[in-house]
Amino acid sequence: MGWLTELVEERGAEALDLHAQTINPQFVRLLRTIGFDRRWSRAEGAYLWDSDGSRYLDVLGGFGMFNVGRNNPRVREALIEALELQRPGSTQLGVDALPALLAEELLRRAPASVGKAIFTSSGAESVEAAIKLGRAATGRPRVLSAEHGFHGLTLGALSATATPEFRDRFGPLLPGFAQVPVGDLDALERQLASEDVALFIVEPVQGKGVNLPPDGYLEGAQELCRRYGTLFCADEVQTGFGRTGRLLALEHWGLEADLITVAKSLSGGYVPVGALLMSDAVYESVFDSLPNAVSHGSTFAPNDLAMVAGLATLRELDQQGLVERSARLGELLLERTRPLVERYEVVREVRGLGLMWAIEFEEPPGGSRTWKLLERIQPGLFAQLVIVPLFREHRILSQVAGHGMNVLKALPPLVVNEEDVDWLATALDETIARAEKMPRALIRFALGAARAGRAPKQKLARV
Ligand SMILES: Cc1ncc(COP(=O)(O)O)c(C=O)c1O
Repeated sequence: MGWLTELVEERGAEALDLHAQTINPQFVRLLRTIGFDRRWSRAEGAYLWDSDGSRYLDVLGGFGMFNVGRNNPRVREALIEALELQRPGSTQLGVDALPALLAEELLRRAPASVGKAIFTSSGAESVEAAIKLGRAATGRPRVLSAEHGFHGLTLGALSATATPEFRDRFGPLLPGFAQVPVGDLDALERQLASEDVALFIVEPVQGKGVNLPPDGYLEGAQELCRRYGTLFCADEVQTGFGRTGRLLALEHWGLEADLITVAKSLSGGYVPVGALLMSDAVYESVFDSLPNAVSHGSTFAPNDLAMVAGLATLRELDQQGLVERSARLGELLLERTRPLVERYEVVREVRGLGLMWAIEFEEPPGGSRTWKLLERIQPGLFAQLVIVPLFREHRILSQVAGHGMNVLKALPPLVVNEEDVDWLATALDETIARAEKMPRALIRFALGAARAGRAPKQKLARV
């Protein structure tokens, strides 16, 4: 037995206390309050096991980083092989084939509008690169994004992120940023017409709320960007790699973006990796001379393990047919859950694309004093009345789709099967039936959780 196995066996049980002492006591307090303070012992595919040996369905999916399933055996083998090869990567003043091979694979799968890739280690970093290179390529200062958009929590990405709960207290953010309402092409055009906007960054399907774009909006936005010399940037950090039933979500609308940001599931869930895919024109404007050959980058970004994880993940998506599986099972999930809209007064809508899915709750049409009370205490609290029992009684890990919203969201690994879809649909049916009656015990619990969770709630609402 190696030292690591021994260490985990010896100290694993201390995880919550240790985390509270050394990392984030507020978060541990929150987990304890809502009863999510499990000790996790194992993970595989779409499942987690706790220390009592109970199996959970993970539809939170690590915020969407486990498209090929947790601890995917083929990605793991590739990583072990890479370690054993003792390759000469990251020479920095030299190049290796692996980054170029991954770039080749990404570009082969992307629209013809992009011709170069630069690697990063996270979604936020990919967005930072888009902002920075987009500004340099156009010589323009301003950046537009969509209302309710989420692009990451580093300062540049945060400046493009609309959520006040994430932004407040961290200003001043970068100058020149503004948000436009989704679906309003006139508002977008008014902004673009000043011809000082470098890029418009938009998620094809918004993670916060799982909002699908209105018909024609994304195509219209791209067209307007072209007209006014603004780069059109699709943020595919969450929607990429099969999540919506296409390898990239922009394929649903035939979009030809100038910039595409990816990360999360490209790593197979093992190693941080992200990328910015850009048009040749953007590349040529920024990296336009020998002195500018190293204008952007990051020490670890194209490291061997990240590149191998990316290559292995793309192979896995292809070989296991996971993109088609996402489309098929996403349809099944919608089919199984749409009847909930008719069955329950509190269910407003069920929506999704591929395996990016959400259910939205609303106050029952006749009005409800309990609902109003919950909303006064903390907007979006009703969704917690579903999420908590879904976890504690049905062993399904899910999340709210954003701050203050009554939306429950699922981003399951794409390896889920028909029985898992049934597990989720049946559990939702039972849980909503109970939550709709808003029994006293449940309300008391929710109020207690809301009070305790007030400070750290943003972790739960992370899109
Ligand atoms: C659309 C989108 N962009 C960017 C990010 C930031 O990615 P990361 O958390 O890897 O920095 C996220 C994360 O949820 C995201 O959903």
